[in-house]
Amino acid sequence: MNQAELHRILASKSLKKKSAVPLKSLFEKRLATNLSLIKTQFFSLYQDTEHKAYFFTLLDTLETLFKNRPAELKKQDIERLNSGNWYQSEKMVGMQLYVDRFNKNINGLKEKLPYFEDLGINLLHLMPITTRPSGENDGGYAVNSYHEIDSKYGSKEDFITFAKKAGEKNMFLMLDFVVNHTSDEFEWAEKAKKGNLHYQNYYYTYSDRHIPDEFEKTLPEIFPQSAPGNFTYNEEMEKWVMTCFNTYQWDLNYRNPEVFIEMLGNLMSLANLGIDIIRFDALAFLWKKIGTLSQNLPEAHTLISLFRMCLQVIAPGVVLLAEAIVAPRNIIKYFGEDIKEGNECEVAYNASLMALLWNSIATKKTSLMVKSLMEIPNKPKDATWINYIRCHDDIGLGYDDDFVRSMGWDPTAHKQFILNYYCGNLEWSPSKGLMFMYNPKNGDGRITGSAASLLGLETALEQKNKNIIDYAIAKILMMHGIILTYGGIPMIYAGDEIGTLNDYTFEQDQDHVNDNRWVNRPMHNWSVVSELQKVDDSPAAIIYDRLKNMIRLRKEHNVFEDSNSLKIHGSPNPHIFVYQQTNENKSVWVLSNFNEVSETLHISWLLSIGIHAGKNSMDLLTGKTIELTHNELPIKPYQQFWIINL
Ligand code: GLC
Repeated sequence: MNQAELHRILASKSLKKKSAVPLKSLFEKRLATNLSLIKTQFFSLYQDTEHKAYFFTLLDTLETLFKNRPAELKKQDIERLNSGNWYQSEKMVGMQLYVDRFNKNINGLKEKLPYFEDLGINLLHLMPITTRPSGENDGGYAVNSYHEIDSKYGSKEDFITFAKKAGEKNMFLMLDFVVNHTSDEFEWAEKAKKGNLHYQNYYYTYSDRHIPDEFEKTLPEIFPQSAPGNFTYNEEMEKWVMTCFNTYQWDLNYRNPEVFIEMLGNLMSLANLGIDIIRFDALAFLWKKIGTLSQNLPEAHTLISLFRMCLQVIAPGVVLLAEAIVAPRNIIKYFGEDIKEGNECEVAYNASLMALLWNSIATKKTSLMVKSLMEIPNKPKDATWINYIRCHDDIGLGYDDDFVRSMGWDPTAHKQFILNYYCGNLEWSPSKGLMFMYNPKNGDGRITGSAASLLGLETALEQKNKNIIDYAIAKILMMHGIILTYGGIPMIYAGDEIGTLNDYTFEQDQDHVNDNRWVNRPMHNWSVVSELQKVDDSPAAIIYDRLKNMIRLRKEHNVFEDSNSLKIHGSPNPHIFVYQQTNENKSVWVLSNFNEVSETLHISWLLSIGIHAGKNSMDLLTGKTIELTHNELPIKPYQQFWIINL
């Protein structure tokens, strides 16, 4: 039983009482339920006796933050607790977008609410909208403020009106909390630059290279091409400051308890905008230690859990998403382990599935994916995934070397093959991606590009080849079919629903040219959208229509709720990915062929995993019964079935 469950019990008890629960006593009850965990976690991070006073500051801060939470959100917190794990529902389907690139600004976004409704989207992940430095700002991930909306998007009132309107349409909202760093223009950084030692201690600042050099011995580089190294010299401050990402993103020093307490306030100012899910950006990096990679450290987990426990007291309805793009065995830890189990983040990106899907497209085989996914330990029952194929970032090839070896592949050569396949170095590959942050020191590189271009649509359209166009469309749909059925919240990247290709205009933009992730951050193409009704055989129209149908089917079948029932079947045909979702004794089997030729599965194997086949089972996607040919089920290239028994 995690803390949220305890709170559910408290919330249901408060509802049973006829008179409204006095909010003050709600606060006290919640605090009492969490206090000992908060205390344990706080003092495990901040051990010195001098830190004791900060613990009392934290307690006062909690009370103030609770008071400041708007009344309607306090009510919503109680409702959310009572509605169980709403984020695991099959009804959830998300879309990620840049407000300005989607439709101008917040008001423009509001106008497009019917578009989301038509497609079936009920969760929006809006990329950063608060103030940031002009010029390069990592798409707003360099924050000047955690709550002031950048005027190019509109005003706070615009946002609140939008959030209200979205809420009326049962739309959930997600925003980022850039928890690891601020911009170098943030008020603390400005004060630090002016020589204020108090604020210099909010960051990792050093007068000479001694400690930075010690750190550099083990710290990896995130952007080795555009921002090599992890420290930047600031002339004004005459000090080195830790900058693991870009030179203008200063890493916060959470060894200082004041930073934690102030950041909790910043988190709440974001949550109080009416946000349902908060994406904890780059949270693996929160704790730094010389001699380590300074990623996924136990203290980082304690810190995240401390944030969660404090939210449990002041805003228990808010859900946290872990943006931990790390090895599979490390991702799962962000749901919390041991005493922290279920008390860290409720949701995490399924980066492993994402990277393995791209591996399967390139190799046309699913064995590495099956083996790797089967090894991932079960997540806690209250936790869920964000399943996605593309997001605004690059695709990292985080495969487990031992598993790659067990396929008979050499890990280095394999990585090189995948990079070559996607980044235009293999003549026969239909894929059109770009290489991101190639690091000649270790041969590491990542991939950028839109889903459609990576899956061959751009090449196929250039070649005007109907067959290849059809294959690319089938691949796009198959990949989306997987994220819609795998268990968790599917997150569609805006533009993918109409097969948007790479956007090469970033090369002409001086603020974007050094970061080719902008190739997969296109402007939404509303002229294509307006054509959808008129021309129904364009790739965009076919993708939109079928995707919409798949979303509808997902929402109609509660087997797609994430009840932790996913069963992956090691298929005898290495090209076919097979898994089963079960709920209340009903199952759906999802079969996907990753090969460019037709493949088959024998009836005896289908029967062995529970599929009746023939007239006794049906494909939900087409509504047709499952036809066998000589006791074999034929599956066309990139075809997918969602099979139920009748
Ligand atoms: C996260 C974001 C990425 C950003 C980085 C630094 O990984 O997804 O876009 O560059 O954090 O904030």
